[in-house]
Amino acid sequence: MAYYVIPRACRAPLYSHTLSLLGFWALIVVYTHIGTHHLLQVPVPTWLKVVAIVDSVAMVIPVMAFLINIWYTAKGRLGEIHADIGAKFVFTGTIMYFFVSIQGSLMALPDVQRVTHFNNWVVAHAHIGVLGFAGMIALGGLYYTIPKISGKPLFSRFLADFQYWMVLIGMVGFTVVLTIAGLIQGNAWLNGETVYRVLPEIHVYYVVRAGLGLMIFSSAVLGFYNIVRSLFGKAGASS
Ligand code: HEM
Ligand code: HEM
Repeated sequence: MAYYVIPRACRAPLYSHTLSLLGFWALIVVYTHIGTHHLLQVPVPTWLKVVAIVDSVAMVIPVMAFLINIWYTAKGRLGEIHADIGAKFVFTGTIMYFFVSIQGSLMALPDVQRVTHFNNWVVAHAHIGVLGFAGMIALGGLYYTIPKISGKPLFSRFLADFQYWMVLIGMVGFTVVLTIAGLIQGNAWLNGETVYRVLPEIHVYYVVRAGLGLMIFSSAVLGFYNIVRSLFGKAGASS
């Protein structure tokens, strides 16, 4: 989606076709071996863990090959991206891809994972990935393609922008509170504290998490309304 939307929105060719091929093949070679990074704390053959850790760190190659390509394509053309709400979502998604992937490579290191495994840190990582990266890019794809496919303008750019900021603030806030809660849990457990005695300490973070989650959910309802109105509303009703 990013390879399609960013060059189109910038009205510029992709920075490097060769780099995109490097990213593709590096992803095929490296990404197919990293699954065991979810099983580093359980009895799995050590060689399998080593392969997963080495390749998780090597993920920096396909990730950066993709990001450099997209970011160089957009270099000097951020105005065009800002002007198009679809491209704005997609571009933000690529920034989240940077953060989730660098964090992921670090989380695959056994010394780091001894603290972060099984607590809210991983849930924070999961949501920078699924919502910040994949979700933002998917929403951008919808906003970019639906007006083109239907031939009708977006019902409200204001609502789409509002959704963008609600998702961004909600997701970043979600990540910050869960990361803090995860560090509290992870360090307490490492010091031999029992699970239930740590729960009162993270209660406040769970309340904030629920608030931010509600905010993201509300923005999804607004986004759904905007898209339905765009599809079924009168042509030319854009505001
Ligand atoms: C270089 C890229 C990435 C690496 C090396 C990486 C690494 C990791 C590691 C090591 C874990 C396990 C943490 C633990 O259980 O202690 C994990 C969990 C997870 N990651 Fe990533 N990650 C990467 C990118 C992503 C992306 C792009 C997404 C989403 C689109 C994602 C989604 C998740 C999810 C959902 C989990 C939690 C799985 C569960 O419920 O156990 N990750 N990641
Ligand atoms: C409105 C936005 C969202 C909110 C408020 C939300 C909230 C949550 C919560 C509260 C959890 C449980 C964490 C725990 O075990 O304590 C969770 C887990 C999870 N969610 Fe979401 N979520 C959202 C969006 C998404 C999206 C868009 C995806 C996938 C595309 C997703 C995938 C996951 C996964 C894979 C887990 C398990 C993570 C793990 O256990 O490591 N979430 N989410």
